[in-house]
Amino acid sequence: MTEVVMLKVEKIKEEYPGTKSFFFNHTLNSQPGQFVMIWLPGLGEKPMSIAADDGKQFYITISGVGPFSKAIQGVKEGDTIGIRGPLGTHFNLKGNTIALVGGGYGAGPMAFLAELAVWEGMKPQNIHYVIGARTKDLLLFEQRMKTIGVNIHITTDDGTQGKQGRVTDALKEIIEEVDTIYCVGPEMMEKAVYDLAQEHQKECEISLERYTKCGIGICGSCCVDPTGWRMCIEGPVLNQDQLKKVSEFGKYHRDATGKKNNF
Ligand SMILES: Cc1cc2nc3c(=O)[nH]c(=O)nc-3n(C[C@H](O)[C@H](O)[C@H](O)COP(=O)(O)OP(=O)(O)OC[C@H]3O[C@@H](n4cnc5c(N)ncnc54)[C@H](O)[C@@H]3O)c2cc1C
Ligand code: FES
Repeated sequence: MTEVVMLKVEKIKEEYPGTKSFFFNHTLNSQPGQFVMIWLPGLGEKPMSIAADDGKQFYITISGVGPFSKAIQGVKEGDTIGIRGPLGTHFNLKGNTIALVGGGYGAGPMAFLAELAVWEGMKPQNIHYVIGARTKDLLLFEQRMKTIGVNIHITTDDGTQGKQGRVTDALKEIIEEVDTIYCVGPEMMEKAVYDLAQEHQKECEISLERYTKCGIGICGSCCVDPTGWRMCIEGPVLNQDQLKKVSEFGKYHRDATGKKNNF
């Protein structure tokens, strides 16, 4: 679906101050890792990951960090907003035991992938949901993951819940048990997870986010060096062999004007 559809916001849940989930009763037919373009009249469009989709309802989880994402925090239940998608590549379930590593809003697609794995018959004890945040109030989807019975590994920078440290500290403890590692989060966290996967010769799939304007492969805004792959078409989900070819991964990204910004 590449045209914008106007959808009613059925429900809004505040996950923690400044971050809300927006629910839509709509069959999107999306896969974990894909995104939608959200259109707010007068403010334009921004890409947002699909945090859940059960075939009847989907939701997105948005953190207010700048003009667009803060404006959307003011949307109310019953308002309509524009949605275009699902867009981009998605995660592929592989192996018997998997680790899903999420940071920030990246927890959404990881929790969605955990649910899909269970729906497709994977045993919950073979699924590890590894989630990290600065402090316990910023952790996402712990209860949602408890409901499906997967293993939950929590890290916080300040030690207020789970292990004090980074998601990679928790991942190191289980990495030998897992066949495939999936990750969505801040890019330096993704790079650390990728390096660990490489070191232990594990397959991995990671979502590489770049500045997205059209979302349909036309404008070139989301291309990565040196391959020129468009992260709205050939990405955002890339596997370890593809990531090896993206020299800018974990080093820099381009802004709206095309200027390079180092991480
Ligand atoms: C595939 C993908 C999935 C995303 N999923 C989510 C999500 O589930 N939840 C969520 O809260 N955010 C998500 N984002 C980020 C979101 O699109 C916005 O970047 C973010 O909301 C900030 O936008 P802003 O205009 O409010 O802030 P600004 O202050 O304008 O931007 C803050 C930073 O966000 C980045 N950014 C801004 N616009 C874009 C854009 N069009 N494309 C890529 N990066 C941009 C820039 O690096 C900028 O420095 C996703 C981005 C991508 C590419
Ligand atoms: S955002 Fe235009 S090509 Fe990807």
